[in-house]
Amino acid sequence: MGLVATTANIAGRVLVFGGMGQVGQGLVRQAGEGAVVALGREHADLTDAAAVEAVLDEYDPAVVVNAAAFQPVDLCESELRQAFALNSLAPGMLAAACERRDIRLIHLSTDYVFGSAQQTPYAESDCPRPLSVYARSKLAGEHVVLTASPRHCVVRTSSVYGRTLPGRGTSPFVERMLRRAMDEEPTRVVDDQVVSPTYAEDLGAALWTLAGSDRAGLFHMAGGTPASWYEVAERVFRFAGRLDLLGRTTTEEFGAAAPRPSYSALRSERWSELGIDPLPGIDDGLERHLATAHPELAG
Ligand SMILES: NC(=O)c1ccc[n+]([C@@H]2O[C@H](COP(=O)([O-])OP(=O)(O)OC[C@H]3O[C@@H](n4cnc5c(N)ncnc54)[C@H](OP(=O)(O)O)[C@@H]3O)[C@@H](O)[C@H]2O)c1
Repeated sequence: MGLVATTANIAGRVLVFGGMGQVGQGLVRQAGEGAVVALGREHADLTDAAAVEAVLDEYDPAVVVNAAAFQPVDLCESELRQAFALNSLAPGMLAAACERRDIRLIHLSTDYVFGSAQQTPYAESDCPRPLSVYARSKLAGEHVVLTASPRHCVVRTSSVYGRTLPGRGTSPFVERMLRRAMDEEPTRVVDDQVVSPTYAEDLGAALWTLAGSDRAGLFHMAGGTPASWYEVAERVFRFAGRLDLLGRTTTEEFGAAAPRPSYSALRSERWSELGIDPLPGIDDGLERHLATAHPELAG
């Protein structure tokens, strides 16, 4: 089954909440000049229903992408109100407001909705088992979006790396690791949590294709190579020429506030519907990212 619509229909008519973040910016760059309108928190606070309705009326988009989230996984354990406000209630309000205006919503979610039940990548048809407040708040967000309209989409992704705007979004793992290598800080990283590292540019291109299609429902969009956080860090420290600074640790020893799945890599049963290739793995994606974002370090 091929793609049934084209992005020419929606160019200039896509509005992105969380548009200054990592995923939002990947979409902005891949869609191309003027194709999407990226909104930061200063344009509309997603928890303010009246502000969101006003922005929808002002821009009159065909498609809305929601890449805004409350993401600090450990902080969510103590800040339940904030986590559920932005990750569950706000997407519910946005989904209903979009449905009333015939707007399709594409809402971003996470691999952390899965627990540690299996050691092979999870597909869309696998049953979530969230372990943390963050994961439960994101799963609730998925539910309110998908039940608000049969046209809305939820896209689960995993461990995104890509370019960031200064002072925007959550500091990504790859950039934190690179900073530690440059600052010569000995670093130990968990080797017993496996994810699907995803390049924001590749995800942005796939989101753009989805936006131009008429597909609905749940999609997994993540990099093609499952890897532990240590294996991600290993590539970054090697790139910086400081692999000597990196060591392994375990989830138990690290002792984070929020529980995390030991395995949450994703695969998709729905790629063929979009007529595009599955996203490349970390070796390909991380090399492109580091060479583009940090050319001064590229050998
Ligand atoms: N990053 C990952 O590894 C990862 C993994 C799996 C799933 N995801 C999902 O992917 C989506 C995007 O993640 P990301 O990495 O792009 O996040 P990000 O870089 O932290 O960007 C999120 C953006 O949300 C905006 N935001 C925060 N609170 C807001 C509010 N109340 N109203 C409006 N905007 C608000 C922030 O705006 P300001 O810049 O103005 O603060 C920020 O730019 C999220 O749904 C996340 O759950 C991400």
